Amino acid sequence: MNTETHIAIIMDGNGRWAELQGKKRVKGHEAGAKVVKEITTYCSNNKDIERLTLYAFSTENWKRPRLEVEFLMKLLEQYLKNELPVYLQNNVRFEPIGDIRAFSKSLQKTIKDVQEKTAHCDGLVQSLALNYGSQNEILRAVNKIKNDEDDITEAMLSNALDCKHDVDILIRTGGDHRLSNFLLWQSAYAELFFCDTLWPDFTTNELEKILKDFKKIERRFGGLK
Ligand code: FPP
Repeated sequence: MNTETHIAIIMDGNGRWAELQGKKRVKGHEAGAKVVKEITTYCSNNKDIERLTLYAFSTENWKRPRLEVEFLMKLLEQYLKNELPVYLQNNVRFEPIGDIRAFSKSLQKTIKDVQEKTAHCDGLVQSLALNYGSQNEILRAVNKIKNDEDDITEAMLSNALDCKHDVDILIRTGGDHRLSNFLLWQSAYAELFFCDTLWPDFTTNELEKILKDFKKIERRFGGLK
C-alpha cells in the first residue's frame, strides 16, 4: 500500500442499530461516536493511513427531527471536547470540512479550538465532515475562484475545495449503495467498499479486511498496466 492512503467513511446505520434493539435512534448515534473513536485510534496507529475523513453531519441532515439534530450537535461538541487529549496523545490533527457557519457559536468555537490545538500534530489527519455536502463544497469553491481572469483548471478547483485530497478507499456501512453527496470530486478514482454492517457494529477487524482487499487491487486510474 502506498504511504498516503486516504480512507473516507459514510457511517450509516446508527438509527437502525438502535431500533433493532428497541432503543431510541439517538442511542445509535451515541454508540456510533464510540466507533468513531476506535476507528480513529486504529488508523492513527497504522502508518499506511495518512487521512481518515468521516461523514458526521451532512447538509441534508438538517431535515431530521429537531430533537435528533440537537442531540447530534451536543454529541459532537461533547465528543470533540473529550477527544482533544486523545488527539494530542495520538498525534492526530483534526481538520473539519464543510460549512460550519450554520452551527451554534459554541460548537463553532469548539471545532476551531480542537483544530488549532492539534494543528502541530503530524500523524493521522482526521477530518470530520460537518454540515458537509459535496455539491455545496464545489459551489463554494467555484465562487471563491470565479473572479480569476484565467480559465478555471482542475488544480485550481481542487485547491479551493475544503478537502484537497483524493480518496483512495471509500467505505459505506449500513447496506446502501449510494455516495449521498460525499466527496464526489475527491472520489473520482476511489475504490468503493459497501458493507452491510451497521456503523455501531463496525470493527477494526472489518477495516483491516478492507485494507487487505484494497492492497490486492491494481489501480490504473484509467490507464493501462
Ligand atoms: C447515519 O446513521 C449517521 C449519521 C447521520 C450521523 C453520523 C454520526 C455519528 C457516527 C455519531 C456522531 C459522530 C461523531 C463524530 C461524534 P442514520 O441515522 O442515517 O442511520 P439509519 O440509516 O439506520 O437511519
